[in-house]
Amino acid sequence: MSVFASGADSGLAWEELKKRVENCSSCGLCSTRKKTVFGQGSATSPIVFVGEGPGADEDEQGIPFVGRAGKLLTRILQSVGIERENVFITNVVKCRPPQNRTPMADEMMACTPFLEAQLALLRPKIVVCLGNTPAKWLLKSSEGISALRGRWFSWRGIDLFPMFHPSYLLRNESKKKGSPKDLTWQDINALRSKLDDLTKGGPSA
Ligand code: URA
Ligand code: URA
Repeated sequence: MSVFASGADSGLAWEELKKRVENCSSCGLCSTRKKTVFGQGSATSPIVFVGEGPGADEDEQGIPFVGRAGKLLTRILQSVGIERENVFITNVVKCRPPQNRTPMADEMMACTPFLEAQLALLRPKIVVCLGNTPAKWLLKSSEGISALRGRWFSWRGIDLFPMFHPSYLLRNESKKKGSPKDLTWQDINALRSKLDDLTKGGPSA
């Protein structure tokens, strides 16, 4: 069954894209990966979340954000009534960088056509970048996530919103005013409001 309500063609393109990711050997990460991690969630979602790259759990399972950081992401979404099944979640690179190092520029370059094709087919209203890597990469910004988070950018006509990476929140437990967790609480609420504005009158995520 196609996940796309409108047009068998985009359904076919999506399946083809999945196959290409599965068989990809465009960069060195293919030699150490266990599974490629294409992405998971709703193909009709108005929001796409973009992380950095698969970690050990994701590499084992072939599903994004299933480890500790992923469980926190799920809870953050639920805190504003967003179920992860109803959004689409993916990463800049589809294969795990060894030792969870930051993906290198040539690896991101090799993999970005997949992300771009996913976004072209999904046509989301909002792209949320989780952490430094996707935010700086998509925005071509030299500013870090602390400066970028909580601000709305326009990326190819799509509203782009950087937030802290959930792994960063796991390393920073404080909930004090101005802490990463406090700022993320503000950001997820800002995201919820934006979503409500965009989907007014229609079904929400
Ligand atoms: N961190 C990421 O950036 N992506 C995942 O899929 C898991 C952890
Ligand atoms: N570094 C990252 O990559 N992401 C964050 O959210 C914070 C620091």
